[in-house]
Amino acid sequence: MTTNSLSLETLCAQAMGWIEPTTKAIVQPVHVATTYLRDEDNEYRSGRSYIREDNPTWDQVEELLTRLEGGAATLLFSAGMAAATASFLALRPGDHVVVPQVMYWGLRKWLLGPATDWGLRVDLVDMASLDAVRTAMRPGKTKIIWAETPSNPMWQVFDLKALAEIAHGAGARLAVDSTCATPILTQPIALGADLVMHAATKYLNGHSDVLAGSLTTARQDEFWQRICGVRTSCGAVLGSFEAWLLLRGMRTLPLRVKQASTNALYLAEQLERHPGVAQVLYPGLPSHPQHELATRQMQGGFGGMLSIRVKGGEAAAIRCAARVQLWKRATSLGGVESLIEHRASIEGAGTPVPGDLLRLSTGIEKAEDLLADLSQALAP
Ligand SMILES: Cc1ncc(COP(=O)(O)O)c(C=O)c1O
Repeated sequence: MTTNSLSLETLCAQAMGWIEPTTKAIVQPVHVATTYLRDEDNEYRSGRSYIREDNPTWDQVEELLTRLEGGAATLLFSAGMAAATASFLALRPGDHVVVPQVMYWGLRKWLLGPATDWGLRVDLVDMASLDAVRTAMRPGKTKIIWAETPSNPMWQVFDLKALAEIAHGAGARLAVDSTCATPILTQPIALGADLVMHAATKYLNGHSDVLAGSLTTARQDEFWQRICGVRTSCGAVLGSFEAWLLLRGMRTLPLRVKQASTNALYLAEQLERHPGVAQVLYPGLPSHPQHELATRQMQGGFGGMLSIRVKGGEAAAIRCAARVQLWKRATSLGGVESLIEHRASIEGAGTPVPGDLLRLSTGIEKAEDLLADLSQALAP
């Protein structure tokens, strides 16, 4: 039986069913060597020479991600930020990119700081408006539209099919930060995207114990070769133990994502009726401005991420976060345990995030337990 027709659930559970040929082990070993023996005739017939270029412990993870995303190849990176920044560093100074106004703040900060200093031209647009994106395009100059969907921490959903058409019409690429959708809920390449990025630190690993990133390409072209060059030359590579742990986490990815999505929808619906909550931001709610698009673009759920805006403003939001007992007051997302965070505090001055907003990363606990804890924390 070939693995070509297998579902994502089966591919993940068996990690494509790889068997280690010398021992027949059904789990691959961790390769820790940093260097490889050169043959006597001065060749490297093994195909490997040094760990910054290539590491056998990456192979199974990269191939699994390629399969899950329906792409042509994948590279693992030392962090989500390393993967994202490699996509832009593979461009040339003077190139122009279009990114969402509200997005993962760490990347936004890098784009407006070091990347702009390096020579990248960056336009922030309201990506929910396709007209705004069209207006921002500079044919010949714009090289990337970068779409994070659903996007941090307001959970806007962007139309990947339409964005791919706009990008391609102007000779640019569509790159998607699909960290919060995961390949279980959205497959951007099937919608026309050229590049898919994950902060694998989040849902792919899922246990809050690995920092990692990935890029998957729709085709192995010259731009992809430049990205490969950035990873190797900058040394933005994943450690062997992290790669091994990441694969172990990915075996349960579909189960975790489905449970987190079910929990998040339950919480969103309940919290929308809560007297202490002014607004719930979640693509699964009919009240969400892009709910219809999310229903079309995301299959099997709307993800585990939602935000609430607390009645009483910033002080009330911070007080709610201070009072939770079960939810963990911590940054990051996508783990099996639920996290709550006052985003404006971590993003600091200049953040577009309102002060009354709490970001919730829903884990896989019992949804009723999570709601009970939030309810007591929101009580007057
Ligand atoms: C959507 C998104 N993209 C990228 C990143 C950066 O990932 P990392 O922390 O692994 O560098 C994060 C981190 O929170 C994120 O949430």
